[in-house]
Amino acid sequence: MIELSGITKTYAKSAVKAVDDLSVSVRDGEIFGFLGPNGAGKTTTIKALTGVLRPDAGSARIDGIDVAADPIAAKRRIGYVTDNPELFARLKAAEYLNFVGDVYGVSSADRRARTSEYATLFGIKDALGASIGSFSYGMKQKLLVTASLLHDPQNWVLDEPMVGLDPKAAFALKEIMRARAAAGKAVFFSTHVMEVAEKMCDRLAIVNKGRIVFTGTLAELKAMQGADGSLESLFLELVDDSAEESA
Ligand SMILES: Nc1ncnc2c1ncn2[C@@H]1O[C@H](COP(=O)(O)OP(=O)(O)OP(=O)(O)O)[C@@H](O)[C@H]1O
Ligand SMILES: [Mg+2]
Repeated sequence: MIELSGITKTYAKSAVKAVDDLSVSVRDGEIFGFLGPNGAGKTTTIKALTGVLRPDAGSARIDGIDVAADPIAAKRRIGYVTDNPELFARLKAAEYLNFVGDVYGVSSADRRARTSEYATLFGIKDALGASIGSFSYGMKQKLLVTASLLHDPQNWVLDEPMVGLDPKAAFALKEIMRARAAAGKAVFFSTHVMEVAEKMCDRLAIVNKGRIVFTGTLAELKAMQGADGSLESLFLELVDDSAEESA
């Protein structure tokens, strides 16, 4: 369970709030989509909830643990797939996975089993002996996804996970997301793509200029009726700044 309350963040030298009093909760057993245009504040919010940056105000609680008060306990309960799979280029992929396994205190049996499961699923098993620097963007991302699941986290947080994945890998990723939610875990992911959200989410939030403009189920969103009845037009209306300013 992920509970964000009043998260606010202004970057140094910036006049505007990147995230502005944002509150959202992700329940166990659900896939929650976080949508918004470029620069809306999705990555900033995700960094605040994973403890990568400290918000100016507000709190993030992971399974009831406050990220600021007990960052290590909170982080143990999170698997985080960043939007930027730049990893240690000189490490071999297997070395990186072992490093992550050490950090999270994963037993060698669990490490082997989970590495084998996900690396096989993503077709990178034979590449684990190669250095990360030799990996393509998509392979790095698959490695990052595999690493994020080594400690079988209760909460899985993914920032734009489909970007850069080929259709087979994107399908595999979606299957894992569904399986984890079905097993009672929380899955929280950001995307620009309404179609992905439409297929995957139990609930979603739409963020624009650091503020939530919608939270609810897909059915609730559809009930709002976009201009041509499509979710895409609804999404564009919700993040349309000209409409907001004239309102
Ligand atoms: N390190 C930083 N320093 C200064 N400003 C930043 C920094 N990171 C993000 N911002 C600004 O904060 C705002 C929110 O950015 P953020 O990366 O959170 O958006 P996003 O929703 O993830 O966008 P995208 O869809 O492009 O990934 C933007 O105006 C961005 O320019
Ligand atoms: Mg982002």
